[in-house]
Amino acid sequence: MNILLLGKNGQVGWELQRSLSVLGRVTALDHDSPDHCGDFARPEGVAETVRALRPDVIVNAAAHTAVDRAESEPEHARLLNATTPGVLAAEAARLGAWLVHYSTDYVFDGSGSAPWREDDAPAPLSVYGATKLEGEQLIRQSGCRHLILRTSWVYAARGGNFAKTMLRLAQERERLTVIDDQWGAPTGADLLADVTAHAIRHLQANPQDGGLYHCVAGGETTWHSYAKYVLDVARQGDAAIKLKATEVAPVPTSAFPTPARRPHNSRLDTQKLQRTFGLTLPPWQQGVARMLAETLR
Ligand SMILES: NC(=O)c1ccc[n+]([C@@H]2O[C@H](COP(=O)([O-])OP(=O)(O)OC[C@H]3O[C@@H](n4cnc5c(N)ncnc54)[C@H](OP(=O)(O)O)[C@@H]3O)[C@@H](O)[C@H]2O)c1
Repeated sequence: MNILLLGKNGQVGWELQRSLSVLGRVTALDHDSPDHCGDFARPEGVAETVRALRPDVIVNAAAHTAVDRAESEPEHARLLNATTPGVLAAEAARLGAWLVHYSTDYVFDGSGSAPWREDDAPAPLSVYGATKLEGEQLIRQSGCRHLILRTSWVYAARGGNFAKTMLRLAQERERLTVIDDQWGAPTGADLLADVTAHAIRHLQANPQDGGLYHCVAGGETTWHSYAKYVLDVARQGDAAIKLKATEVAPVPTSAFPTPARRPHNSRLDTQKLQRTFGLTLPPWQQGVARMLAETLR
């Protein structure tokens, strides 16, 4: 299998370099790759890359993920999250290639408390959410064979993440304040990458199973409970870090005003994915504890 991976150095892209390697030959590109254009600000260049490499599968992990910045640069966010994925989809359709793409819980308005299903009506609150939704729509309308995985609250061991920020702050301050009215599931980039590889293999034999799926770790939490879990794990471990924080206070979203509005209810229903692909999504604590074990060692 000939695979083109775009956005290779992002959280998910980095893990995909590992998980896709067993499926075939992977050409992995970033926005400044020298040999082929992987720059989503240049849709024509990305289209030329697909025409030159003629992949069987395109996996797109590139995106404009700076949710607050997107509010002040909507055209750039739209180019990266919608226009270029749409061009990729058109090229995939011409080639008969698969396109794997990631989307977000931010396509929903976060109302209610029930986990969102794939067929629930989207209503994004932010430029990021709106441009990601437009990307989904362009892919679906292109007629290409595709797999879109909507996910949430992605973290990775590599680079910065929420858990590491909480650990740093807990070493500096006696009291942390963390939002307790947004619900979701922290999802490891490694889990997403592994699910992606399994799904690609499944789709080779079952092409009728392509489409849109929700893919997050099991269970649910708030940022506040997530932070408390991280600090509990750090305290129980034998790492030599000393936590100063004695209190993690719950606060509403309104305590941290941001340019982009975020959904309160980011719960995603993953039954369709687990049933179709015969996969089990482990509880979110499992991946976070593992990431912390790697980080704190
Ligand atoms: N992170 C989350 O919490 C979250 C939640 C739901 C869905 N998702 C979706 O999951 C997917 C993967 O996200 P992630 O967490 O891995 O994000 P990430 O770590 O921010 O990775 C995005 C990648 O895109 C690259 N990129 C930026 N501008 C580019 C351009 N002009 N051309 C090509 N690449 C460019 C970034 O490079 P630089 O870093 O060098 O700019 C980065 O490597 C995305 O589709 C995202 O929308 C993420």
